Amino acid sequence: MTTIGIIGSGALGSNVARALAKAGIRATISNSRGPTSLSALIEETGPTITAGTVEEAASADVVLIALRWVDLKQVLSKLPAWNNRIIIDGTNPVEFLDSQSPDANDSANPLAAYGIKAIDLGNQYSSALVQDLVPGARVVKAFNHLGVEVLAEPQASGGQRVQFYSGDDSAAKGEVRKILETAGYFPVDLGTLEVGGRLASLPFGPLAAINFIKIQ
Ligand SMILES: NC(=O)c1ccc[n+]([C@@H]2O[C@H](COP(=O)([O-])OP(=O)(O)OC[C@H]3O[C@@H](n4cnc5c(N)ncnc54)[C@H](OP(=O)(O)O)[C@@H]3O)[C@@H](O)[C@H]2O)c1
Repeated sequence: MTTIGIIGSGALGSNVARALAKAGIRATISNSRGPTSLSALIEETGPTITAGTVEEAASADVVLIALRWVDLKQVLSKLPAWNNRIIIDGTNPVEFLDSQSPDANDSANPLAAYGIKAIDLGNQYSSALVQDLVPGARVVKAFNHLGVEVLAEPQASGGQRVQFYSGDDSAAKGEVRKILETAGYFPVDLGTLEVGGRLASLPFGPLAAINFIKIQ
């Protein structure tokens, strides 16, 4: 059976865990504060989700990265070799702003009202930079384009919530697709990381934050 780990238990990681739990999918979730800090979440999700260390979550066959962009390098550089395992890149290249910082009220920042600021990647697409941080892993981008308030409900309004995913390795994409389907989402393949990743990446991808429901 494919094992799943989640690194990061904030808005993204916890809501993916909730969605997986509803479908009875097992996963190990982790954060910076250690497994005991996750007891309330585990009580809520039930026994298919277990709390672990970052190293335990990172040892799974499929590992969701649910970290803020600014923390990626520090966390990922400490992890053991990926050996062809699958990373789901759930991140977006944005900086979270402190509400007291001058950036939070910067009229030149179109995202200030959302408490975030885009990080300039030049011409690069974000998963290429993530791929550089996880050498030997097969990166699939998913879970990054929806607001977390809807993520934990793969089924809604009489249909299935569309989850976009993209990647450069078709077998890895197939594994992630199976997880998305089992969780109850309607997975839509957007192609390669360069094409699909850009389409669905927040904040400026044209499919970012678009919340489609597939009605049967
Ligand atoms: N929020 C959204 O609506 C949304 C939607 C889609 C994608 N995303 C993307 O998802 C990513 C995470 O966003 P978020 O909103 O979930 O952020 P968040 O709520 O701040 O959660 C970040 C998580 O990262 C963990 N973390 C930080 N440093 C760590 C370390 N050294 N080792 C292990 N874990 C560490 C934190 O641990 P602690 O809990 O111990 O502090 C926390 O659980 C971002 O890239 C964001 O752009 C967010």
